[in-house]
Amino acid sequence: MAKNLFADKILILDFGSQYTQLIARRVRELGVYCEIFHHKSSIGSIKKFNPKGIILSGGPETVKQKGAPKVAEKVFELNIPILGICYGMQTIANQLGGKVELANKREFGHADLKLRNQAAGLFKGISKKNISVWMSHGDHVSELPNGFKSCGVTSNSPIAAFFNPSKKIYGLQFHPEVTHTPQGKIILKNFVREISNCKGLWTSKNIISRAINQIREEVGDQEVLLGLSGGVDSAVVAALLSKAIGDQLTCIFVDNGLLRLNEGDQVMKTFKGKFGIKVKRANAGNQFLRDLKGKKDPEHKRKAIGKTFIDVFLKEAKRNKKIKWLAQGTIYPDVIESAGTKNGSAHVIKSHHNVGGLPSYLNLPVIEPLKDLFKDEVRKIGLELGLPKEILFRHPFPGPGLGVRILGEIKRPYIKILQSADDIFITELVNEGYYDKVSQAFAVFLPVKSVGVVGDSRRYEYVISLRAVETIDFMTAKSAKLPHAFLEKVSNRIINEIPEVSRVTYDISSKPPATIEWE
Ligand code: XMP
Repeated sequence: MAKNLFADKILILDFGSQYTQLIARRVRELGVYCEIFHHKSSIGSIKKFNPKGIILSGGPETVKQKGAPKVAEKVFELNIPILGICYGMQTIANQLGGKVELANKREFGHADLKLRNQAAGLFKGISKKNISVWMSHGDHVSELPNGFKSCGVTSNSPIAAFFNPSKKIYGLQFHPEVTHTPQGKIILKNFVREISNCKGLWTSKNIISRAINQIREEVGDQEVLLGLSGGVDSAVVAALLSKAIGDQLTCIFVDNGLLRLNEGDQVMKTFKGKFGIKVKRANAGNQFLRDLKGKKDPEHKRKAIGKTFIDVFLKEAKRNKKIKWLAQGTIYPDVIESAGTKNGSAHVIKSHHNVGGLPSYLNLPVIEPLKDLFKDEVRKIGLELGLPKEILFRHPFPGPGLGVRILGEIKRPYIKILQSADDIFITELVNEGYYDKVSQAFAVFLPVKSVGVVGDSRRYEYVISLRAVETIDFMTAKSAKLPHAFLEKVSNRIINEIPEVSRVTYDISSKPPATIEWE
């Protein structure tokens, strides 16, 4: 009998903090299912979700402004433990009759928090009196609401943490979810597992067995089609489906000729070879290049690649008349973003090429077995299912592939040069232990020529730029501070081993104002 993984749940009400998803990931890491709802969610929908604890996230606003975001007042009458983080704490204070003030000195970054007491179990297991915490807000609570006590003090705020012991409502001015608050995990664990009394049922094994049951129930003995991209999400969907329904699954892998060096062969070796999955590789590199001919504008290129992808995929898909379902690797952050729980802008910077449009073309119902999961959970179940680490922990790779890393018009020789340069960079990053420390790294081909000298001869060849970034959410990013000596080594290897390259640069731009990809 499968356990009900959703018996004990936490609800996160989002005020738009960049850390909201991180809070959710931390709760899931504690083995407890949680979802993110908009802070304006009605009391009816909150009750329907039936959480055992509620977390109010941080957010960029200030409670001092008119019309400041709030939660429904009735949330405080549900008799469910509540934890407010940063803005979440301030709105608790504001909504329950306390006071919030703009600090005369902004606390941003590290602060020392003096713990006043064990705060009805919130600080259980922390033996130190002072802990290091991470702050990121200017306002602070200056007067406690009735029934609340301060349980943490910093040099700038006498009320950096508070609690109401009888109502089990807690507030933290700092962020327990970030790694910069080393004791943060203990605090969250106390709230989720002890105070809210949630059992740790949300484990990889349980998630897999629930998904398998659900897939079998849904598709019965019908056949399912999946577009395999070589990325983490579709790889895990493939492994999961293959475990659930064996050869009722057919995969199509569109090789657009714009993949990383040897990537196509690797994908085939893993899925066809190791897992014995039916995979059809559509070698469509020539068609993609033909359709890209003469196109220089990044948006035109992206659109062309997207369109060709759909053409190739549909042609393959329509060959098999028995297919009744389309599987997709949609994950929870995609669901959150499209539901608009975040305050994100809707401005299109780049038209992303994903397979999102396929269901309407194929007119098939969609099965999305990962739609409740975060990326790190997807990776964990991938490991459990036996997928290789090289696939699961690979940096993200854009749908249009090297097509957005070759500036301007794409030509066949450019692809080869870029694949070789990229491979050298990535191999060195792996060998020197930097690959897992950066969020994404790759090489970019610049179709400009520059003079160099190799041995005694002059070279007039192309330029490669290296890009490595650190980021939490890929919405903002900083260039990784890779050591100079390392970059020099990579540059030397590229120029020595690839005769068509005479110069290597390192891209140090942040996002914003730059983007991660060059096009
Ligand atoms: P940008 O360049 O917008 O990239 O800063 C942010 C992240 O998204 C990836 N990216 C894409 N992923 N289809 C994708 O699936 C796309 O068209 C696409 N364009 C960019 C990019 O690699 C980075 O991780």
